[in-house]
Amino acid sequence: MKQTLLHNGRRITYYRSDTVRPVALVLLHGFCEDASVWDGLLSDLNDLHPVRIDLPGFGGSDPSPSNDFDAWADDVCAVLNDLSAKTCVLIGHSMGGYTALSFAKRYPERLAGFGLFHSHPYEDTPDRKESRRRGIEMLQSGKRDLYVAQLFPGLFAEAFVKTNPAVIETLIARGRQQPATGIIGALESMIARKDHRDTLRDAACPVLFVLGSDDAIIPVDWALQAAVLPAVTDVHVLPGVGHMAMFEAPEKSVEIVRQFWEFCAAR
Ligand code: MLT
Repeated sequence: MKQTLLHNGRRITYYRSDTVRPVALVLLHGFCEDASVWDGLLSDLNDLHPVRIDLPGFGGSDPSPSNDFDAWADDVCAVLNDLSAKTCVLIGHSMGGYTALSFAKRYPERLAGFGLFHSHPYEDTPDRKESRRRGIEMLQSGKRDLYVAQLFPGLFAEAFVKTNPAVIETLIARGRQQPATGIIGALESMIARKDHRDTLRDAACPVLFVLGSDDAIIPVDWALQAAVLPAVTDVHVLPGVGHMAMFEAPEKSVEIVRQFWEFCAAR
């Protein structure tokens, strides 16, 4: 069921079923995606009634006036309030993980656990910031479709790209529906974000890490250095998987998310 709430005059769209678990399971998508990126996992997570949010500037949600993941975390909190959900297990894919980290810093009392699904706590490197700035220029010059087309193939392990072209085509088509203003806002937010290793060190709840051995964006060794920071951590390195386990290893993704939610909800 699609819901849209007004938060400070902006639309935030999210998807829910008629029930929400007392410890809600909330899923946040990554860059140039929207809540539909989780659709393939829904039938197997049905009994957990996952809530999926369109982050600012994507899907049915308006862009955020400030390019700052703290403001995005406030939107996530507005959805929890709208659902009357006191606590949740918040799983963020990549850029959704950056939002989850800001949420963990701002609203630790609302978390029974949170997960970095192909994500990490580090600030952008200078090279990464530069490449994002080039992306912003490309988008500002009207090349949104080209930008999106070159983005998605690099997110998957090579073997998956060869055998599943339709998955990548679908993501590109969906990405091309995202407004350039939303994509630019996300790039600016990623450039501006700060290191969140302290948020991991301070986490009072369990933290999940899902990593892909073939992720070209998040080298496993680098992410594992962050994975040892929380007091309670659940780490999975998926062999042969790139940056998109919800497509590349859907059954394993369901098993990991379900077990993590059960562990956090029972504490
Ligand atoms: C994502 O999938 O959200 C992006 O890879 C995040 C990033 O570019 O850092």
